Amino acid sequence: MTKDYIWWKDATIYQIWPASYKDSNNDGVGDIPGIISKLDYIKSLGADIIWLSPMYDSPQDDMGYDISNYNTIYPKYGTMEDMDNLISGCHKREIKLILDLVVNHTSSEHDWFKESKSSRDNSKRDWYVWKPARYDSEGKRHPPNNWKSFFSESAWEYDETTDEYYLHLFAKSQPDLNWENETTRNAIYEYALDFWFKKGIDGFRIDTAGLYSKDQSFADAPIVSPGEELQFCGNSVNNGPRIHEFHKEMFEKVTSKYDVMTVGEVGHCSREDTLKYVSAKEREMSMVFLFDLVSLGYSSTDRYQYDGFSLKDLKDAIVKQCNFIFGTDAWSTMFIENHDQARAVTRFGNTKTLDNTFKSAKLIALMQATLTGTLFIYQGQEIGMTNLPRSWDISEYKDIESNNAYQDLLKTHNISDPENDSRVKRFMDTLALVSRDHARSPVQWTADKHGGFSGTKPWMRVNDNYKEINVESQVGDPNSVFSFYQKCLVLRRQYKDLFVYGDISVLDYENPQLFSYVKQSGTSKAYVVLNFSGEPAKFESSVPGTLRLLNTNVDDFKDDSLSPWEGRVYLVEQL
Ligand code: NOJ
Repeated sequence: MTKDYIWWKDATIYQIWPASYKDSNNDGVGDIPGIISKLDYIKSLGADIIWLSPMYDSPQDDMGYDISNYNTIYPKYGTMEDMDNLISGCHKREIKLILDLVVNHTSSEHDWFKESKSSRDNSKRDWYVWKPARYDSEGKRHPPNNWKSFFSESAWEYDETTDEYYLHLFAKSQPDLNWENETTRNAIYEYALDFWFKKGIDGFRIDTAGLYSKDQSFADAPIVSPGEELQFCGNSVNNGPRIHEFHKEMFEKVTSKYDVMTVGEVGHCSREDTLKYVSAKEREMSMVFLFDLVSLGYSSTDRYQYDGFSLKDLKDAIVKQCNFIFGTDAWSTMFIENHDQARAVTRFGNTKTLDNTFKSAKLIALMQATLTGTLFIYQGQEIGMTNLPRSWDISEYKDIESNNAYQDLLKTHNISDPENDSRVKRFMDTLALVSRDHARSPVQWTADKHGGFSGTKPWMRVNDNYKEINVESQVGDPNSVFSFYQKCLVLRRQYKDLFVYGDISVLDYENPQLFSYVKQSGTSKAYVVLNFSGEPAKFESSVPGTLRLLNTNVDDFKDDSLSPWEGRVYLVEQL
């Protein structure tokens, strides 16, 4: 493995979801001045880089992933002056700042799309993907192909004015840009990238980075849901024929001119295909997110077909992610939460009691901080924020994906009385486990009303447990989840050869309670043992050498067993 120390490899990246971070002006929505007021807190955690989710102007149909202007700020989040202050506030504290680059699609409210839609011969018509209808033998109009959008329903929307359909792989208010058009690409580079690099940002998280190039045949997607008119389009639109040409061009023309990092969101692809994006010699992007861990239990085409997972599945996923770069010149990521995932402590730990919540949140910290790749922490993870309560009904869920999936279910099964329907109940059980909303509720800063997030009713309900789980009660408490994260990050930095760059070998694949592994770099070794169960587990080291305890999430421990959700990290001193 390459050990060329680069700032973005060693870094811990802290993700901020602006709507829910901190509201400074009491309008119920988080904002940039709110973020600025918490920069010292973020620094004290030990983060090196902030990834700010979209803060651009947007109608907010998909929480800012529907951008109507790349060069202005969503007014509820603040002004361009606030953004400039955020950039300088970060840099003053030696924190770098990366933004979200959303250029597979824009909002339908973007001027580019408004022009494109205005007539078939508008100069920007070809900036988006327009296709004629298909007609059946009875003359009935159908979309150009059978693609189902990632947010349910057809990926094509009919436009009456010009009698054609436009493509939207996500919501219908998120039309896909046409990357085949060179003028469009150059406009994207200028407005979405270069404008911000010139302002001094330090890179981008690249949204849906594998989707830009569409096979120009626009053929039907293979049938994965027999009997249904619309089919999962992921396999047809990921890693299209020109995708690497586009990323190379974007890198050569813009990104390579600056000392910045990029991290791509690339899904549905083999290791071999993923490496093409991140191999250093390919000059496309610095790293990609690997989804093995966070997707555990999901069906590959639909997260709401959730089937659970075993500890062995978790071990396999982690090994796959850590070994992704083995023997290559590529780099990788380690994340367990983000704005599209439910809370890790609910999915992978145990939230039945507060003690368990805190202990298993620390176990997750211990694990994540010893694994290979650039480390990502999502806002609230550092205090053990949990999923929203199962008792909440669908009206509390604000995400377009959750709501569309719910409506889809009602429509598909003609359900008229959702409250008494067992399919809806099952769906709500799954939603309570995997919905994106869990990550999007306001950060719990204090035990005060609205969790100290805002002085007024927030745009989304604060999790009921804010009185027990909040920042104020944890900062300065040496036993808190927050303090534990601080410690884990210090150790990760101190032993970066082992934890950030080291190789992993799992010692107990078949053990249903324990996850033990060795991280190794040259002759240095660390031994990690984690009890991922609610029962005590027998423990006997099989690693030769003397074990020196480096970190643990308990005060007292027994030499021959681990208590429920206990974890330890040892340095292995050679005999
Ligand atoms: C991926 C983002 O992470 C997700 O939140 C968003 O809905 C889609 N891309 C569409 O931009």
